[in-house]
Amino acid sequence: MRLLLLTHAFNSLAQRIFLDLQVQGHTVSVEFDIADAVTEEALTLFKPHLVVAPFLKRRLPEAVWGRVPCFIIHPGPPGDRGPSSLDWAIKEGASRWGVTVLQAEGELDGGPVWAHEAFAMRPASKSSLYRHEVTEAAVRALGTALERFEAGAGPLFRPEGEAIRARPAMRQVDRAIRWETDGVEEILRKLRAADGQPGVAAHLFGEPCRLYDPRPESGAFRGEAGQALGRREGALLVGARDGAFWVGQARREGRIKLPASQAFPEGSAALPELPSETGWWRSPQDTWQDISYEERGPVGLLRFEFSHGAMGTEQCRRLRQAVEWSLGRPARVLVLAGGPDFWSNGMHLNLIEASPSPADASWENINALDDLAETILGAQDRLVVAALQGNAGAGGCFLARAADEVWVRQGVVLNPHYKNMGNLHGSEFWTYLLPARVGEAGARAILRHRLPMGAEEAVRTGFYDALLPGDPAGFHAELARRAEKLAGESFFARLEAKRGRRVADEARKSLAAYRSEELAEMRRNFFGFDPSYHVARARFVRKDPPAWTPRHLALHRELGWRVPQP
Ligand code: COA
Repeated sequence: MRLLLLTHAFNSLAQRIFLDLQVQGHTVSVEFDIADAVTEEALTLFKPHLVVAPFLKRRLPEAVWGRVPCFIIHPGPPGDRGPSSLDWAIKEGASRWGVTVLQAEGELDGGPVWAHEAFAMRPASKSSLYRHEVTEAAVRALGTALERFEAGAGPLFRPEGEAIRARPAMRQVDRAIRWETDGVEEILRKLRAADGQPGVAAHLFGEPCRLYDPRPESGAFRGEAGQALGRREGALLVGARDGAFWVGQARREGRIKLPASQAFPEGSAALPELPSETGWWRSPQDTWQDISYEERGPVGLLRFEFSHGAMGTEQCRRLRQAVEWSLGRPARVLVLAGGPDFWSNGMHLNLIEASPSPADASWENINALDDLAETILGAQDRLVVAALQGNAGAGGCFLARAADEVWVRQGVVLNPHYKNMGNLHGSEFWTYLLPARVGEAGARAILRHRLPMGAEEAVRTGFYDALLPGDPAGFHAELARRAEKLAGESFFARLEAKRGRRVADEARKSLAAYRSEELAEMRRNFFGFDPSYHVARARFVRKDPPAWTPRHLALHRELGWRVPQP
């Protein structure tokens, strides 16, 4: 079928659906929901059999749903209606939730249901649930709905009467923290229901702001409710009536989202630094620990859970220290496990944007990333695995390649290219690492492609090495099994082969040479006369709404596009 993805943004869910539909053999084109006239033009050009809408922020006009059947993916169970479904479910502590594929009609979310899937809720942020449970349920439900559609079967049913539950958009008054009465659990639910957008309006250091990225703290910290009590690695510990919790990110009015302590540099400087009591070791307690290490027999597991997968200069430096420290441990295999939602999205674009000199800050950040990559490449007395449970983008995809093996969870969406960020050349030794895996032409194709890449494709093309199960439990079990096997009998032979390869490669062309060539290009991107990167970054961090659909997504707008004749 010809399927038009109509979406507010090409977000992670839209990307995953785009990839899955292509794998299923459909011809997929994308149009951003910018203006009704533009959508109608897309229908005329593409003549889709069906419109699939994974992420809309407004109602579709009749001129669209009256012309072509439109499947809306709604993040709620059948009968649920409204733009804040997941927010209400989290805030109210629902134990199960769902995703419905319904056909658009006059009333918002009011059409007949073609498929639905349910899932158990986790105590996690809205964006984490969206990236995992909602995405997996949406993919399954859409698959069922498409099968029915192709088979000529109609919708399943139309929710009526008491089955309909229309909820309004959640407002900041609904999200407001009542510091006198709300306990930590209640506060965490409110913050999770608003993460990553729109955050919860509050005050820190007497200034209005939005709070994001909450984590529990089970230690004995006590302090005035609503007051910042201390800081740790960019996060702020905030007091509550019955304990304390961490706020990872904050946004002051009229500014961009930043690590909370960097959003309030003056106020935070006066607070005590509260280092993790366990150092790099993973704490058995609930606490803020963005980097943590644990050992299971011959396998060391280094997690780094950076908000948004963004890795600023300081985070890269600390992660490098943690890698160096881990390399002093006896484990034979070091697994770089990233976080559950992201492995890495490369440089921290918000921190760069907020700095007095974004060009200098970009330069520092890319050098810190390259230092980290070099440390990983230099680990010559053990095998290093990058295990991607969460998505990765730009430099993050190539940083992972610095490990000896890259294992990726099925369902992970990769964006291994830099071009969408103002034609960045990119570094992280991709000019060394990529051709060795996919050849010169393959490397150029990956960088030029600009489109998301599924985990299967990454493994099929040799960019990454193994596909691990999609469900988190299966992923961790297989990761542990494979890592232990790697540490087993053929360990020394593999290690010797690795050392030999590195020595031979270095003799052919040094790492320093690759690095300086890549950085010469990056220097031009940061300090040169072409401002594309600075413009693209500013638009990205300010979340400027798109004015048109990028040409590489809108197949129907390509020169020479013709609707295939039946
Ligand atoms: N720096 C700062 N913030 C970043 C980031 C980065 N490198 N990458 C992602 N984020 C933030 C987004 O702004 C968004 O924030 P929000 O919750 O406040 O809205 C959040 O992480 C999730 O990102 P989003 O774009 O919604 O996720 P996605 O899964 O839909 O898209 C990417 C993933 C990788 C395609 C997209 O995030 C991206 O292009 N990131 C930039 C990558 C890059 O160019 N890095 C620099 C070169 S090394």
